[in-house]
Amino acid sequence: MDNRSLVSIDDYTKEEILEVLNRAAEFEKNPNSNILEGKVISSLFFEPSTRTRLSFETAISRMGGKIVGFTDASSSSTSKGETLNDTIKMVSNYSDLIVMRHPIEGSARWASEVSDVPVINAGDGANQHPTQTMLDLYSILKTQGTLENLNIFMVGDLKYGRTVHSLLMALSHFNPTFHFIAPVELEIPRAYKIFMDKNKITYHEHTEFNSIINDADILYMTRVQRERFADPLEYEKVKNVYILKNDMLKDTKDNLRILHPLPRVNEIAIDVDANPKAYYFEQALNGVYARQAIIAKALDL
Ligand code: CP
Repeated sequence: MDNRSLVSIDDYTKEEILEVLNRAAEFEKNPNSNILEGKVISSLFFEPSTRTRLSFETAISRMGGKIVGFTDASSSSTSKGETLNDTIKMVSNYSDLIVMRHPIEGSARWASEVSDVPVINAGDGANQHPTQTMLDLYSILKTQGTLENLNIFMVGDLKYGRTVHSLLMALSHFNPTFHFIAPVELEIPRAYKIFMDKNKITYHEHTEFNSIINDADILYMTRVQRERFADPLEYEKVKNVYILKNDMLKDTKDNLRILHPLPRVNEIAIDVDANPKAYYFEQALNGVYARQAIIAKALDL
């Protein structure tokens, strides 16, 4: 494996997380450069994406690099039966860096082990989404002025929501208090509870939503991940379980910011968008700067 890959958020130490966040702030001030001149980056999306793919493409374009790749596995030789192993070996001959989203958990780790160039995980099944985590951390730092000692409320699909899994691991460096709000069917997986217990992270689990968000510094809403359910009836049971409405925010803290990795379905009512505490569209923009910094680190630039 190329040790400059970013497969899981714990591939970065706390110091590396802070270094990348500092670099993201520099890219926000000066987004356009030629530091990727002569570099080719492969963008392999075996699963749909809007923000992750387009913000990576924007980041690469603003740094003067070239992009090759596909946005749909059916247009690649995967549809003829080519293995991921062979696809990655070929693509690592063509390019300097691979950005990959894939539906299978562990696929990014596998790719990083067969590739001769660094691999950046743009989401592997319900497992990890480390570049989303870096933009989430950047958004938290920008809006709170610190990452330390925050009350973080995570709401919705905490079982399949890979952004939640990566973010809780990263925030564990910064003494958070977590509140997890989910129906029992979608509660945070046991492996992450064991991780938090081991790292002495305080967390509370709830199934009720309305009355408990007033202490939150960050309210991290998530979509119920329909595509991960084996049984569509199970999805129907939980799909609208929590809906954030503007009137629920009236007694919340001034510094509260509402984040969502997006896309949203019904979990944040449209009337919240005009509330100054809504930050999810700015959060998505921060993805460009965070991904510029991640690419620069992966390529030692
Ligand atoms: N947040 C996120 O990963 O969005 P996309 O699926 O649109 O890339």
